[in-house]
Amino acid sequence: MADAEKSPAETDPRFALMDYAMGYLFPAALRAAAALGVADHLIDGPRSVADLAEAVGADPRNLYRTLRLLATREVFVEGADGRFGLTPAAELLRGDVPSSFRSAVLMLTDPTFWRTAGELTEAVRTGTAPFERLFGMPFFDHFARDAETAAVFHVGMAAMSDPENPIVARACEFPPDAVVVDLGGGHGGLLLAVLREHPGVRGVLFDQPHVLREHRLGELGEDDRWELAAGDFFGAAPPGDVYLVKRILHDWDDEQCVRILRHCRRAVSGRGRVLVVDAVVPPGNDPDPGKVIDILMMSSLTGRERTRAEFAELFARAGFRLARVLPTGTRLSIVEGVPV
Ligand SMILES: C[S@@+](CC[C@H](N)C(=O)[O-])C[C@H]1O[C@@H](n2cnc3c(N)ncnc32)[C@H](O)[C@@H]1O
Repeated sequence: MADAEKSPAETDPRFALMDYAMGYLFPAALRAAAALGVADHLIDGPRSVADLAEAVGADPRNLYRTLRLLATREVFVEGADGRFGLTPAAELLRGDVPSSFRSAVLMLTDPTFWRTAGELTEAVRTGTAPFERLFGMPFFDHFARDAETAAVFHVGMAAMSDPENPIVARACEFPPDAVVVDLGGGHGGLLLAVLREHPGVRGVLFDQPHVLREHRLGELGEDDRWELAAGDFFGAAPPGDVYLVKRILHDWDDEQCVRILRHCRRAVSGRGRVLVVDAVVPPGNDPDPGKVIDILMMSSLTGRERTRAEFAELFARAGFRLARVLPTGTRLSIVEGVPV
């Protein structure tokens, strides 16, 4: 289309900047709908806003304005009769469905991320995340304070990981009888998928004691090819053949990552490997989800999303060689390190 045929909103970058600057309002509306449990009240079909507002305890006019915005991205839909109903995305905001994403939305829009992102200038200026100043302690200490706070992160994290776990598990290759250690494996969603996908392997779920208390490996029923190992991955890693390190290294700076990987190097068997599962940031200007979540790491933690070359450097410092990078079709790749 020639510039002359375009509207001012398409040609004047101030309109784009205006939209970018207000980009935080959609997540705000999404959080409100998730927090109020709107989707749970639409299970039996569309409802008028007045009816819905009464059911969730909300102001009808403001609920309408919130749902109207969400419907622009197919999260809820307004019918010709003015009633709102579920869409496939809104369905996942229900709390009672197995693939519910509600806790992931509430985690990703939690004040611990929201407030720190609001102070990003400080992180950019000083090189240090504002998290500790705002919340009085490091990220994972905050989320160990009490069971309710822990659940916000760890239940949300498990829901966020659920769609990617079976895909990652299928993409992983293991020696047939390998001991697979999921380092910082949270509630065990990835290990669960690995054990289901790979009948010969055994699994060790390694994480902090209060996280392991909520593990999900019992879903395997009679299948007891797993054990729990509570500990600190800065102190040691349990023995094993293959180390899964998913969404871990991006939380930590280079020195901390090298410490974690060196413990894997010390503990790994002769036929072993480390499989780091994280975003691998591509070069260039194209949009990439890794470039987005990187900002979250910058504002709340000491870590960052890394390029292939940066992973290769971490591996080299810890006694591994980067053998290959396998894209998985999710937002994550498998970065494979073999001991040298
Ligand atoms: C971002 S979550 C990733 C969880 C899981 N791997 C996934 O992909 O869903 C980071 C995990 O590291 C664990 N963790 C943080 N610090 C730890 C430490 N010092 N030792 C062991 N685990 C730790 C947390 O409890 C949490 O489960």
